[in-house]
Amino acid sequence: MCGIVAYIGKKEAYPIIIKGLKRLEYRGYDSAGVALFNEDLRVYKKKGKVNDLVSFVKGKNLEGHVGIGHTRWATHGEPNDINAHPHTSDDGRLTIIHNGIIENYATLKEALIKEGHTFTSDTDTEVLIHLIGTLQDKDNLKLEEAVRIALSQVVGAYAIVILDKDDPTKLVAARKASPLVLGIGQNEFFLASDATPLVGYTSQVVYLNDEEIAVVSNDGTFEIKTFDNEIQTPYVQRLNMNIEKLEKGDYEHFMLKEIYEQPNTIADCMRGRVNAAAGWLKMGGIEVQEERIFNAKRFIMAACGTSWHAALIGEYLFEELARIPVEVEYASELRYRNPIINKDDVVIALSQSGETADTMAALELAKEKGALIYGIVNSVGSSISRITDSGSYIHAGPEIGVASTKAFTGQVTALTLMAIYMGYKRGTIPKSYYHQLLEGLEKIPAKVKEALECDNQIKKLATKFINTNHTLYLGRGYNFPVALEGALKLKEISYIHAEGYPAAEMKHGPIALIDENMPVVVIATNKSAYEKIASNIQEVKARKGIVIAIVTKGDTEISKIADYTIEIPDTEEPFTPLLSVIPLQLLSYHIALARGCNVDQPRNLAKSVTVE
Ligand code: AGP
Ligand code: GLU
Repeated sequence: MCGIVAYIGKKEAYPIIIKGLKRLEYRGYDSAGVALFNEDLRVYKKKGKVNDLVSFVKGKNLEGHVGIGHTRWATHGEPNDINAHPHTSDDGRLTIIHNGIIENYATLKEALIKEGHTFTSDTDTEVLIHLIGTLQDKDNLKLEEAVRIALSQVVGAYAIVILDKDDPTKLVAARKASPLVLGIGQNEFFLASDATPLVGYTSQVVYLNDEEIAVVSNDGTFEIKTFDNEIQTPYVQRLNMNIEKLEKGDYEHFMLKEIYEQPNTIADCMRGRVNAAAGWLKMGGIEVQEERIFNAKRFIMAACGTSWHAALIGEYLFEELARIPVEVEYASELRYRNPIINKDDVVIALSQSGETADTMAALELAKEKGALIYGIVNSVGSSISRITDSGSYIHAGPEIGVASTKAFTGQVTALTLMAIYMGYKRGTIPKSYYHQLLEGLEKIPAKVKEALECDNQIKKLATKFINTNHTLYLGRGYNFPVALEGALKLKEISYIHAEGYPAAEMKHGPIALIDENMPVVVIATNKSAYEKIASNIQEVKARKGIVIAIVTKGDTEISKIADYTIEIPDTEEPFTPLLSVIPLQLLSYHIALARGCNVDQPRNLAKSVTVE
């Protein structure tokens, strides 16, 4: 949930750390701080964004070949200068940056206060560095040993990096349930919450596993051990990420760039998996677990937020095309309700980051109960992708905007491919329809590109709703989860209250909300329920509601009754979400922009929720 960057080597640490924090800022931006060592330890930290820290340190001594940096998403202690990381031990010898939550920090803090420790912040993190410092001093331990013992007393999630000013030749790092990547350079090392800060410096990475401690030294040596002190052979992987993927390019915001990348990212998700002319569709992730997946009694899909909306679309796809019973669960609910899961179940987790704590925990529970666990993930090498039995990467590339867009359509594309694959193999869809679907799928990237042509129309339309306080999004069938997604997009970046509903459900209560001030976005592309959705629009109009209708190109009926009509290309019904979500993404973007909101870094949010 926050961003960690650390460096040790021959270069100046500060520029590397700051650039890395800017690349990680999408993970949290309540405050930022850096600790640098050069003859002495200097800690600079400030409430606000990384640029606020940059302004704060202007003119200060920023020299040093070793340092640690942090951009925070607060869990314990309000966002302010004091609670910003790094935090230091009592005697100022040790300094730490931390991503995660120390759940038993209060008990530990009480014991440390009794031992005479004084605390300056309200954070859980500060307790951890005091504990490590006291253990190190008491038994004159090596830092890594003090860290190991301290973590055996800690309950919670953490990715940490610690710098000892009495031994600045090394950094000690450890992780459990929060991500941490080690970058290996020429006699230099990088540590970060994900791989993006390493791009441009090294392509050799090691994704640390849970309960591992890494010690990296400025002589170019490093060691990775488990919490049980077992030396690990590092699995060095090649990082294939490039700089332009991390920059906004010609776009004003990452979110807009990522909306416009969707024709390509959907094509990338299909690459090597579908060939309509040859009539084949391959899903490697299913093939390696064919028997268990095809014999599954049901699929349980676990996710959070936008990924949960994608999972809902997956339910419609798998049940319609492959006739497999599907249950969709909020991961945060599934993990705590002692669910009935067994070896005949396949649990599919959807996660852009592959680090969402609730989704990870739900998967671990499913694994314990014997289910096969399958991941549909964007971030290569992420924690979720590493614990699953099998899975499919969506290949959407780094998604920096906090509001998920290309990852959503990537997840839906992967689910669509899986459902068609399984429907064909199980014989639940006729061969003719299978081939029609493959041909239709290959046309989707071009149709998404065409759907993006409504951008200017939506930009103008958005200005009419910048003072709206409440909005409803309605959809039926495949478009019901899209209505939920459209509402979430608007909520999370424009701060306008929005609710998504099944269109038919509106008359069971929400219709009471409708008046001349209530814009209602209706996704009205359905073939199978067209007349019904048209009636729903009439019900809104009868109460003076303002209707923004998303319709299939060439529609003549609904465009007569809606106040505003946005057209998207026609397509096979199962592929509708890949097109109908595009205008909703653009609508939320332009309304948020018109309201002066920070589109890429909305208030209170972070890109990857690695805490519970
Ligand atoms: C989506 O716009 C939100 N930023 C959020 O709901 C997100 O989808 C959710 O936190 C799940 O993240 P994940 O896909 O990385 O697991
Ligand atoms: N729990 C720590 C704090 O509130 C770290 C939060 C984070 O992961 O940014 O400072």
